[in-house]
Amino acid sequence: MQKNRRIFANRLEILFEKSHNDVGAIDVSDKNVGSTAQRTVAAVVRSNKNVARSAPVDGNVASEARRLSTLLEVSQALSGTLNLKASLHRVLEILTHHHGAVRGLVSLLHADGELRVEASDGLADASRPVRYQVGEGITGKVVQSGKPIVVPRVSREPAFLHRAARRPELAHQELSFICVPIVLNRRAVGALAIDLKFKPERTFDRSLKFLVLVASMIGQAIKIHRLIDEDKRKLVDENTHLRQELRERYDFSNFVGTSGPMRQIFEQVTQVAGTNTTVLIRGESGTGKELIAHAIHYSSLRAKKPFVKVSCAALPDSLIESELFGYEKGAFTGAEARKKGRFELADGGTLFLDEIGDINPSTQVKLLRVLQQREFERVGGTETVKANVRLIAATNKDLEKAIASGAFREDLYYRLNVFTIFVPPLRERKADLLLIVDHFLEKFAREHQRSIKRISTPAIDMLASYHWPGNVRELENAIERSVLMCDGEVIHGHHLPPSLQTAEASGTVTRVSLSDAVSAYEKDLIQDALKTTRGNRARAARLLDTTERIINYKIRNYGIDAKRFR
Ligand SMILES: Nc1ncnc2c1ncn2[C@@H]1O[C@H](COP(=O)(O)OP(=O)(O)OP(=O)(O)O)[C@@H](O)[C@H]1O
Ligand SMILES: [Mg+2]
Repeated sequence: MQKNRRIFANRLEILFEKSHNDVGAIDVSDKNVGSTAQRTVAAVVRSNKNVARSAPVDGNVASEARRLSTLLEVSQALSGTLNLKASLHRVLEILTHHHGAVRGLVSLLHADGELRVEASDGLADASRPVRYQVGEGITGKVVQSGKPIVVPRVSREPAFLHRAARRPELAHQELSFICVPIVLNRRAVGALAIDLKFKPERTFDRSLKFLVLVASMIGQAIKIHRLIDEDKRKLVDENTHLRQELRERYDFSNFVGTSGPMRQIFEQVTQVAGTNTTVLIRGESGTGKELIAHAIHYSSLRAKKPFVKVSCAALPDSLIESELFGYEKGAFTGAEARKKGRFELADGGTLFLDEIGDINPSTQVKLLRVLQQREFERVGGTETVKANVRLIAATNKDLEKAIASGAFREDLYYRLNVFTIFVPPLRERKADLLLIVDHFLEKFAREHQRSIKRISTPAIDMLASYHWPGNVRELENAIERSVLMCDGEVIHGHHLPPSLQTAEASGTVTRVSLSDAVSAYEKDLIQDALKTTRGNRARAARLLDTTERIINYKIRNYGIDAKRFR
């Protein structure tokens, strides 16, 4: 036992030797040393150096073991909670209860350059705010120099401000004071100070090294807290920013259209947003169903709560239930902890079930139950979870046909089909086309930093005559592409995607007037006849069953060079 203690003590000694360099920083040769206090320290440390290096005597073994267990408690106190103030307070309590300190203080440097007492133990008036400037009083000097100060006899030290503690004991009991810097990234960010009862035989060297260790542990804890705070701040900033961005992206100003059907959709969105009604949005792919779902959410009372989207078609059948309803630990292999489903994640907000026409029959049953009873169970669980969620579903499938073929439950269809918004394809609301084009043109010119002023008339004709099978999404891509392709300030036909170029070619016929088309055809026929008759106008007239006079008139009018055919 005795032998073990010795080993302990020796190990502690090595530990202290390692930290010795920090403590040894106090030196009389230091230019900054001016006060009596610091001169005293230097003297104390020097006189004790020999004692510290000698083997510990048995009395020391007990105190070293006590210090070791104190260190252990300190480390537990610092890592046990995320509340820094509380853990600092606990550390000081450990120092006063187990280490004979009369009182203890931790002061930390704040962003404004002021030192403030962050935690204390043994103060008569702990709630009073205490502040120092760097360099002021002993604590201020420790932080300024980054070096510890020991004052063996407080009553004889004129540099003492007694600002934090009034020290009534001094009337009958001399006190000693040790203050060590708390260092973070090689800079003092605060100080740990304790008052001890004065004992003439006290070896300050050991107490000092011990406190330096405690201060370095506090430094580490502060570092971790600052990293966590920084991360938290970043996340909160990012979250606020993203929410703002989402709101801007999906507010009505980005929802373009003045055509009759669009105005009706605006009205429907406004009408339904304030309620909790389930909404079904139907329309071809790329018509803006998701945009409408967002607009409903962001203009509803749930706007500040989450908008959670589930792409039913993108999830395999085996995953969709656990994705929607979550699962309990052990529900299946790999379920190592309980996981919340999208219904729970959307709590208080909106759940958007995209491509609802693609969900499998067993999930349809569960969904029906949530819609009817507003509750569900996690996969592998028995606890019933209440769902406070507004449901919006979208599909481009023909649900009636799916019901007829047995792929979609009729009862679910009726539950979903409470308030239905039909979004017509873009080709049926050409009135919106130019508005949407302008909207995307401005958006992408800004995004890609191009100064594009307008679209040429032939390019507009091409956009207008195309049938847009991919609807607004295809239009959006076409405009982005043309902005990237455009080398000047005007978008021309050749900047548009190839699919529109072919439309233009085939569209020429439909765009010209009837008389122009007839003239072009007539000219072709006359030229053909002249080719056959080798430029003989009389024979050509007969071939076309008309008179020579008419043929001559038309040849002159169309500017045909008959000699060419000889
Ligand atoms: N009226 C509109 N004004 C402005 N942008 C629109 C409009 N309608 C659709 N968009 C844009 O078109 C793109 C496609 O829209 P969205 O994703 O909402 O279509 P969808 O109907 O959900 O398509 P899918 O069925 O393929 O999922 C989005 O970038 C959206 O912002
Ligand atoms: Mg969509």
